[in-house]
Amino acid sequence: QWPPKVAFGQDVFEDKWEFPRHCLTLEHVLGEGEFGQVVRAQAHMLRPQEESSVVAVKMLKPEASGAEYQDLVSEFQLLKEVDHPNVIKLLGVCTLKGPLYVIVEFCELGSLRSFLRASKFKNKGSWEDKQRSGNDPSMISEKNETRILTFRDLFSFAWQISKGMDYLSGLKIVHRDLAARNVLVTEGMKMKISDFGLSRDVYEADTYLKMSKGRIPVKWMAPESLYAQIYTTKSDIWSYGVVLWEVVTLGASPYPGIPPERLFPLLSTGYRMDRPDDCPEELYAIMQKCWKTEPEHRPSFFMLTDILDSLLQQNT
Ligand code: ADE
Repeated sequence: QWPPKVAFGQDVFEDKWEFPRHCLTLEHVLGEGEFGQVVRAQAHMLRPQEESSVVAVKMLKPEASGAEYQDLVSEFQLLKEVDHPNVIKLLGVCTLKGPLYVIVEFCELGSLRSFLRASKFKNKGSWEDKQRSGNDPSMISEKNETRILTFRDLFSFAWQISKGMDYLSGLKIVHRDLAARNVLVTEGMKMKISDFGLSRDVYEADTYLKMSKGRIPVKWMAPESLYAQIYTTKSDIWSYGVVLWEVVTLGASPYPGIPPERLFPLLSTGYRMDRPDDCPEELYAIMQKCWKTEPEHRPSFFMLTDILDSLLQQNT
């Protein structure tokens, strides 16, 4: 019997979130992983005033196993509990008479990684160019199109992600896969933390070790996650430091040229990524704080939000 819904109890899926499957028209694939995919869709009568709304539907591929099904169920259960402008919003779920669909808000500008990379070739200038372009309305394009990003934009992205993570950590949610590919961007360059599939409540310690290690990209992982599978808000802080590096390099791949298996020995000797060209000292200083070997020496998302707040003030 598939999906094995009974295994999770009657109260897993509540009527409140159930959306009629026939009111969903699937369009095209927005993104995919090994076992899951996200499809753009039209949802009919989702909101009272709207005949049809664009949404994103997360679903499993046929090759997915029970573990991936459980991950999607966990993602749905976490999303039900969260409500923050910088966290992806759950819109509904289809569980009856067919495959499990988790419906979330559609983010027009795609993942932060692709958004940064798309803006990169328009951003070949220096610090001064970026500052200047921020005040030049001719450089700011119509909606949906990338424009030259200023450092203020980049600080704002960092601040928004930190705000969303501060909210999640307050709910004792550990993301475990924070990376620019898992942050979505909506119109007005609003950041939405996404991909909760691997998240676990901090207090559900027994579920950590069941995860297969290879499923989380090592270049975003804290040393204690790499060697002891320990995931906490402090290991999310480490990943956040890598996200800052991705932001300031406009979507480059971290530790270029270093094979993943070399990473742990390198980090153990104290090696860290250099300050990228053009990266403001203040931003690199934050990355270095996030990459402290001792988790308790790393700052909190609350502290990071505060530091970024003052960086934003200085760059108005
Ligand atoms: N790709 C993955 N999830 C998405 C979403 N919610 N909106 C737009 N693109 C996506």
